[in-house]
Order: sequence, then structure tokens, then C-alpha cells
Amino acid sequence: MDFKEHIIDKLTALTGLEREAVAKAVETPPDEKLGDLAFPCFPLARVLRKAPPLIAKELAEQLSSDELIDRVDAVGGYLNFFYNRAAFITDTIAAVRTAGDKWGRSDTGAGKTVLVEYSSPNIAKPFHIGHLFSTAVGNSLAKIYDFLGYNVLSLNHLGDWGTQFGKLISAYKRWGDSALIEKDPIRELLKIYVRFHEEAEKHPELEDEAREYFKKLEEGDEETTALWKYFRDQSLVEFKRVYDMLGVKFDSYNGEAFYSDKMDEVVDILRDKGLLVESEGAQVVDLSDLNIPPCIILKSDGATIYATRDIAAALYRYRTYNFYKNIYVVGLPQSLHFKQIFETMRRAGWDWSRNCVYVGFGLVKLPGKSMSTRHGDVVFLEDVLNESIEKTRDIIISNGSDVGDIDDVSKKIGIGAILYTFLKNSREKDIVFSWESMLDFDGESAPYCMYGYARGRSILRKAEGTDFSDADLSKAVSDEAYALVKLINGYGDAVKDAADKNEPFYVNRYVTGLVKAFNKFYNTNPIMRDDVEDEVKKARLAIVDATCGVIKSALALLGISVVESM
Ligand code: ARG
Repeated sequence: MDFKEHIIDKLTALTGLEREAVAKAVETPPDEKLGDLAFPCFPLARVLRKAPPLIAKELAEQLSSDELIDRVDAVGGYLNFFYNRAAFITDTIAAVRTAGDKWGRSDTGAGKTVLVEYSSPNIAKPFHIGHLFSTAVGNSLAKIYDFLGYNVLSLNHLGDWGTQFGKLISAYKRWGDSALIEKDPIRELLKIYVRFHEEAEKHPELEDEAREYFKKLEEGDEETTALWKYFRDQSLVEFKRVYDMLGVKFDSYNGEAFYSDKMDEVVDILRDKGLLVESEGAQVVDLSDLNIPPCIILKSDGATIYATRDIAAALYRYRTYNFYKNIYVVGLPQSLHFKQIFETMRRAGWDWSRNCVYVGFGLVKLPGKSMSTRHGDVVFLEDVLNESIEKTRDIIISNGSDVGDIDDVSKKIGIGAILYTFLKNSREKDIVFSWESMLDFDGESAPYCMYGYARGRSILRKAEGTDFSDADLSKAVSDEAYALVKLINGYGDAVKDAADKNEPFYVNRYVTGLVKAFNKFYNTNPIMRDDVEDEVKKARLAIVDATCGVIKSALALLGISVVESM
């Protein structure tokens, strides 16, 4: 039984208003002391020609309590409804039990395809912390849309094309050592790439050589293509190692290179629509009426660029997947780029471009370290992940807790701690990395949430053999139980909000709040203590069981795996 629907029905019958209008008007009171649902009587004042507080009072008198409603208060111009707590807890826990791990899911997305493009690192360059931010957000969004029934595809738009490959080929032919590269691909490729820049400062003719190589590559020359493929393959081996650690999988690695032969059509379309104008020798789409710089389509030497490849990619995706949404999880420094290409696509008359969504995120500051690839003094992401895992292991050892497989547990907590940090605030905020808060077992962190789950599981292990499937949940009624079960009830809404705003942090905030409410619950409502009556024990165990299921499910939407003890 849906409590909200029930109240909407009652109010509709009583006021004679349209059901839809009532449904729109009811709201969650700002303070739980004011009840579970409120109905503002202000819109009725005009119709009934009475003051809202009087209307509220009269309606309250006509509304009797029933099996779902405990009481109705008139406060100011509001009607405040208090649910019958025993009925609410019983109902919700029964629904969770029936749904199992499908609790909170929906099928709103059935038959619709959502593309989530994320991560998208550049070949032969380090997978840096910004790519990790994109990976955390994108991976979570993909899981969130999947949870809501959409057909989701994860796309990795690799940076595997561009003039830098000419430089890399030139560098490789001069100083490349395949044995070293295969041992440590990106570090080694980066080293020769940095060397190229150093030498080119003294010998500018190297730049011409690099341009020549890239031209050959664009023409499909065999040797340069083989080298390009070799760099790409070697880099991917390394990227995939990181994805494995994170538990991330992609459906496609079609990067910029994949679109290099699909751009002529784009250029033709834009030209035919009269959108291309010449500017300093380049062909651009003028966007000055929007007060933004033009979208450059062809450079003065006729070469296509990043934007053109992106436009070709969008067209390809539309034709291939007929997407409902095409989401790009890319850092805020590129927001102008996406504005330019989306606007260009709109002007080309591509209606579907409305469904291309840019999802930006802020900067990550690693205290004291720089992240430039030109000079080689970069932070390697794998090192950051491994450091987190090592630090977690140290904490576990110094806590002296028996966690079972310490390698597995440290890995799950260490990686979870990093993912959680990226999803902790609304994504456009900048992040400063701090090991202390990331691995704070008592603060708002992955270890804190994971500990809540492990704690619940340990209670359930202690209760092994107790059958609580037929528990009478009315025995569990308390303020803390009610607050907790209300949160459990709101899981699906939190996930929907996250999808609506493309903000995984709604799920993060939700699960953190859930764990807080759970801590309060088990600290004030003893469960396995000897003096707890059997019936009460069973009812509380049923709540613990439901809570654990939701914590696990919500953390999974963030890409975080739970552990059974920690
Ligand atoms: N490879 C780019 C970078 O590292 C990100 C690609 C973003 N996606 C896109 N469709 N342009 O900055």
C-alpha cells in the first residue's frame, strides 16, 4: 500500500480537486516533527473564499485516522499527516523482502538507450586524475541508468589521433626501445615524447619531420599505422589494468581515430548548409551571435581537428544506437568545446542533438604535485590507487581487526575510498585530495559506509539460525527504526534524482545518510542482547537485513564493493 497515494485519494475525495492537482501540491515537510506529508491549503483559499488556516482546521476535522494514517494536524495553512508507523515499517520491510536486490529499481528506461561516454584517456600519455574523476562519475551514471531500466552502453572515446602521434613516431624511430616499452609502456612512451620536445627546442626541424609522419599516418601508410597501433595496444594494456582494479568495463573503445574517415561527410553537410565560413584560412562555424568563439572545423592546412571528430562521433552514435541520451562526462575546462559542437549540430538541423548532454566536473588538486605531461613529472594513477590500498592495509593492521582476506579487503576499501571521494559533492565542485578524510573510518567516507554494512552483516551472522522471515514488524517501532525505514523507502527516489540531474552524489549522500541512521538505530535499539524479547529481536533483525541490502545496492551504484567484515 502506498501511503502517499492513499492520502492523495482521501484529499481528492474530500476537496473535490483534481487528483493530479492534489498530487502536485502535497510535499514532504521540512522537519520530520511536522509529520510525513503535508498539504498546503493556500490554493483552496480562492475557491472556498476562506482563510487557509480555517480550511486546514475544517479538513482536519473531517479526516479520521485509519489503518495507514495515525493523525492529521492543522498547523497554519497546512494539513500535516502522520503515518501509522507500525503499518509503514511493516509495509516497507515486506516490500523490500519481496523485491530482494531489485528494491529501488524501476523500468522507466525500458526500450531506451543511454550512451555514457567517460574516462577517454589519451594514448601514450598517463591516465591522470581528471580521467579518474570522469571514470568515477561515468561508471556510476552507467550503473544508475541501468538500475532504472535503460539499455546502457559505456563508451571510451580514446584520444588516439592527432598531430602528437607524428611526434611520437619520430621519437620512437630515434630513441624507442620496444623491450622497455613493453615493460612499462606509458612511462617509456612519455619519456621519449618529453625528449622529443626537449630536442625540438634545439632542432626545430624535428617538428617538420613529425608533421610529415602524421601526414603519412593520415594517408594510411603501412609502417606508421603499425607503429600507431602498437602504441595504442600497449597503452590499452595499461589502461585496462586500471579499469580492472576499479571494476570498470567498456562496451566500446572507439576513439578519435575511429572517426578519422567519417569526417568528410560532416564537412560536406556543414558546407552544404552554408554554415562554414573562412577565418584566417580555417573553415569555421561562426558563433559570434552567442558571444562564443567559432567552432573550428578545418584548420588552415586542411586538417580536421578534435571538434570535427566529435561531431562525426555524435552522428555515428545517433545512426548506430538511436540514443535517448548521449552523455559526455568530461572536465569543465572542455565545457566551451561541447557548447560549440552542440550548437553546430543544432544549426546543422540535427534535432537529435538536443539529446546530447554534457556532464562536467571540477578540478582535482593533489597537494604539492603537478600533472603536466610535457615535463614528465606526473602523478601516475596506478600509484595513487596502490597508495590508497597500502594505507588502508596499514589502518586495518593497526586497528587489529580480523578481516579475513586482508588483500581483498584493503583493495576494496582503498579503491572504494577514492571513488567515494569523487562522488561526495556535486560534480562541478573542485576536489582537494586528502588521505585523512578519504580513509577516515568515522567520517563521511567509503570506509564509514562499508563499515556500516559489515557491522550489519556481523549482527546477522550472530543471529544465524534465527528465522525472522515471519517477524512482526510492529514490534520494532521506535523513532530510530522509523527514521531508518523511511530512508529505506526513499531509495528509488534518490536514484531517480541522481539520474535526473546526472549527479551520482545524490546516491552518495543517500547511502551516507542511510548508514548514519543505521548506526543510530543499532546503538539505541539493542538487537542481540540477552534481555531483548524474541519477537523484538526478530523484528529488528528484519530491519538490519533490509538495510544491509540497500547499503550494498547503493554502494554498488557508486562502483564500490562491500566487504563482510572490517
Ligand atoms: N581525450 C580527451 C582528454 O583527455 C577527453 C575526451 C573527451 N570526449 C570527447 N568526446 N571529446 O582531454
